[in-house]
Amino acid sequence: MYSIQEIAPKVYWVGGNDRRLERFENMFPLPNGVAYNSYLMLDEKTALIDTVDQSISALYLENVTYVLGGRDLDYLIINHMEPDHCANIEEIVRRYPNIQLVGNKKTFQFLEQYYSLDMSSNYLEVKDGQELSLGNQTLRFYTAAMVHWPEVMFTYEVSQGILFSADAFGSFGAHAGNLYADEVDDNIMNEARRYYANIVGRYGAQVQAVFQKLSGLAINMICSLHGLIWRGESVPIIFDKYDLWSRYEPENKGVVLFYASMYGNTENAMNALANKLAQRGIRDMHMYDVSKTHPSYIISDLWKYSNLVIGSPTYNAHLYFVMDALLREITVLGFKNRKVSLIGNHTWASSAVKVMQELVGTMTDVEIIGTPLDVRSTLKAEREPELDALADAISESILG
Ligand SMILES: Cc1cc2nc3c(=O)[nH]c(=O)nc-3n(C[C@H](O)[C@H](O)[C@H](O)COP(=O)(O)O)c2cc1C
Ligand SMILES: [Fe+2]
Ligand SMILES: [Fe+2]
Repeated sequence: MYSIQEIAPKVYWVGGNDRRLERFENMFPLPNGVAYNSYLMLDEKTALIDTVDQSISALYLENVTYVLGGRDLDYLIINHMEPDHCANIEEIVRRYPNIQLVGNKKTFQFLEQYYSLDMSSNYLEVKDGQELSLGNQTLRFYTAAMVHWPEVMFTYEVSQGILFSADAFGSFGAHAGNLYADEVDDNIMNEARRYYANIVGRYGAQVQAVFQKLSGLAINMICSLHGLIWRGESVPIIFDKYDLWSRYEPENKGVVLFYASMYGNTENAMNALANKLAQRGIRDMHMYDVSKTHPSYIISDLWKYSNLVIGSPTYNAHLYFVMDALLREITVLGFKNRKVSLIGNHTWASSAVKVMQELVGTMTDVEIIGTPLDVRSTLKAEREPELDALADAISESILG
């Protein structure tokens, strides 16, 4: 049975959901699944905006067939050539051999890298700002290089102000029937942020560049390839979040404390510090054990809050491996502009604090708050003044 919704006059959502997939990109946990969105426009000409992952091909093709109602498919707009969206291109071309595939030079380069079927006679290459009329509706293409792949385009439907934004403005989570962000609970921003920080996070400058191109456009609806559709009043809300996230500006003053700990001693120091911060009036603190919580959740919180406290033992004359991997991941994501405090732990020769300082030192605009506290096995009461000084420095950086 097909499963479609008309989201605007003559514009249909024809996507679907995967709730079985354990991890997106085999990396990011999907406790609530993932949606693969695709959109079909019926005008004098018909146009499909992207396809979906191979896991839901059968439903997807049924949806497209149903909405077309026997009509031919004139255009497939390829905003993104990543396999979770382009997996059905070949089948679409086989079913609708007259179709024109709309993309840019890079789109077709990638198409040929992923597929063997020669589809070159179907190509319609477009440039930044070019328009394509479907009859009453007009599609305008904006290249959005490196948000988050080089071939990415946004497609703007001029008459209704709909922005088809590829992966941008996407979120983890499958649909439960409701497609619009304003129809579901507030929790959605957490999954939109986790998606942004982990998938797009490195490309803040490119997101800002696309914002420049879009400035002045009337946008009534944003249709991403994943998750919910943003419309009406939720459009400026997600735009404001993207603006902050892509400028690496924290949303809130608050503290993310994350630690590694084998025997609980580093954890104990982190708890003691958090208690002292609470007593100094700090609110909005979140603590994670990096061996337990998937890094994507911690990274998401890092994009939200102003302060970090990182705690880790020394391990084999290095940094505990899980923490080492997390800090390197954060560095690769281009994370910047935060206040960071450090707690290390060692028994015979300290390395953790030094390695953490080195890794944090490679990040841009990161200020170290307070003196790093290097615990010797367990935190003794005689070192409480150092912990107090660290708590004072962190509170001062937040409360001013
Ligand atoms: C496999 C292993 C390797 C370690 N390597 C070092 C090391 O190279 N240098 C050091 O000073 N301590 C080393 N330690 C000691 C830990 O840093 C120390 O036990 C620390 O207090 C652990 O903190 P925790 O209770 O938070 O796990 C090592 C511990 C283990 C289990
Ligand atoms: Fe993608
Ligand atoms: Fe995607």
